[in-house]
Amino acid sequence: MGKLVVLDHPLIQHKLTMIRNKETGTKAFRELVDEIAMLMAFEITRDLPLEEVEVQTPVAKAKAYQLTGKKLGIVPVLRAGLGMVNGMLNLIPAAKVGHVGLFRDPNTLKPVEYYFKMPTDIAERDLIIVDPMLATGGTAAETITLLKKHGAGNIKLMCLIGAPEGVKMVQEAHPDVDIYLAALDERLNEHGYIIPGLGDAGDRLFGTK
Ligand code: URA
Repeated sequence: MGKLVVLDHPLIQHKLTMIRNKETGTKAFRELVDEIAMLMAFEITRDLPLEEVEVQTPVAKAKAYQLTGKKLGIVPVLRAGLGMVNGMLNLIPAAKVGHVGLFRDPNTLKPVEYYFKMPTDIAERDLIIVDPMLATGGTAAETITLLKKHGAGNIKLMCLIGAPEGVKMVQEAHPDVDIYLAALDERLNEHGYIIPGLGDAGDRLFGTK
């Protein structure tokens, strides 16, 4: 079973409270999502492997460390996932970005792919899928399935808020994928919104409604 990690850093929790507030407007919402994504990226990269290197400082040789191992890829799920990309790239500027777009077929209610564009070396990268809301889990699970079909190995899922239903769905479908959230909320309502959540993440990020 994949790990479920709720990132309880005080700055993440404070900023999350601000984006939950319905009085927070589009500009502030977008800036805060950017900041939260950056803070979450900081936490999620805590276990990246390091190698020892020697570096010449202006005064002496130093034993130091640099990142080693696989390069990273960030995979935002369109459209709300886009709001989390820049914050992550601030910390991981060498990461490449792949995009996934899925819509729900009104008849089958199953997610259908309408856009999929990945870095060519996807199989050699560790991937972090980003989507603000993990609601039913259908989109996240399908995104993971698509990435695996294209050769992806190590995949993490990073969302701002998750519902227990979505966590369960992803954990059952993809037990190898760890899930990182800023908060695990109570439930989904009859329209598929997370309660209490923050409303429609895409609309709040982009000012649509
Ligand atoms: N997508 C959203 O944007 N919000 C929810 O609460 C659930 C899914």
